[in-house]
Amino acid sequence: MPENYRRRLGTHGMDKEVSKFYHKIQFPGHYTQNEVMKKSEDFFLADWIRLANLPFKAKILEAGCGSGYTTHVIATCRRDIEITGVDFSEGSLEFAQNFSKQNNYHNTKFQKVNLKDIQLPENHYDMVICSGVLMAIDNHRPIFTNLCKLAKNNGVVIIGLYHPWGRFSTHLRQIFFKMTGGRMRWIDPRIRTEGWTAERNETWYMDQYAHPREEDHSHKTLMKWYNEEGISFNDAIPKYDGGDLTYNLYMLTRMGSQGGLFIFMGRKNGKFKNADSQKSYNKSKNLR
Ligand SMILES: C[S@@+](CC[C@H](N)C(=O)[O-])C[C@H]1O[C@@H](n2cnc3c(N)ncnc32)[C@H](O)[C@@H]1O
Repeated sequence: MPENYRRRLGTHGMDKEVSKFYHKIQFPGHYTQNEVMKKSEDFFLADWIRLANLPFKAKILEAGCGSGYTTHVIATCRRDIEITGVDFSEGSLEFAQNFSKQNNYHNTKFQKVNLKDIQLPENHYDMVICSGVLMAIDNHRPIFTNLCKLAKNNGVVIIGLYHPWGRFSTHLRQIFFKMTGGRMRWIDPRIRTEGWTAERNETWYMDQYAHPREEDHSHKTLMKWYNEEGISFNDAIPKYDGGDLTYNLYMLTRMGSQGGLFIFMGRKNGKFKNADSQKSYNKSKNLR
């Protein structure tokens, strides 16, 4: 195995706990083809997938794909692309694989990967997506570096993290549910409004309120990471126009409607603040 395919970052007890948790909880749960079709018509990343000008048969990686919902929505939006979903939860991957088979997806692949030990080709993907994942992993900053390495030069990197102001109301509900033993779950905005099945409600509840590990990151931190890894920022959900206080306040007013998640999209431009990443980028350019 070439050295640049192997990125071992060590394992910890917490990894095992998170892995066990996501074996039981297959996020976002069990979905139907109707839900995937409906979502692909109104997909929050659809503009980005169009605007990103991905080439024909573009290669996409979803890192931490869970039970493959987003992977299948993207595979429906663009039938020509090849999308690979990776995760370390066997239960989630099994559901995703069966779903692809039952619904005739020929442009999806699923693979068991621990993001702490990525063995995937560098400079290979036109788009790398990792949303709602890094905050569950301790020592996740080097994983972000490695994910950026997997994107081609000029490839797109999409990252979703919990925002501290956006998640403030979730943290209050976490305390409330701890005190009440999980009563009155309807106070969660998604459980109240999404009309999910009992299984999807339970999965969301566990992921948001009974998770073994989570961490919040501000948009400024993610912007710093993008700069350090040579990713130029293009867009954000919710929109970010450079006003930090207004962004914080806007995230606060959303009352944790998406669990306080915010998502950045950027492109790999080759201007790194991180010397190691610059070396690896220069090397990859010489190889082209
Ligand atoms: C909240 S779910 C997000 C799923 C998907 N990205 C989505 O937005 O629907 C987090 C996923 O990250 C995966 N995960 C957490 N730590 C991981 C690791 N070290 N390696 C691989 N997958 C991991 C979990 O198994 C879980 O499926």
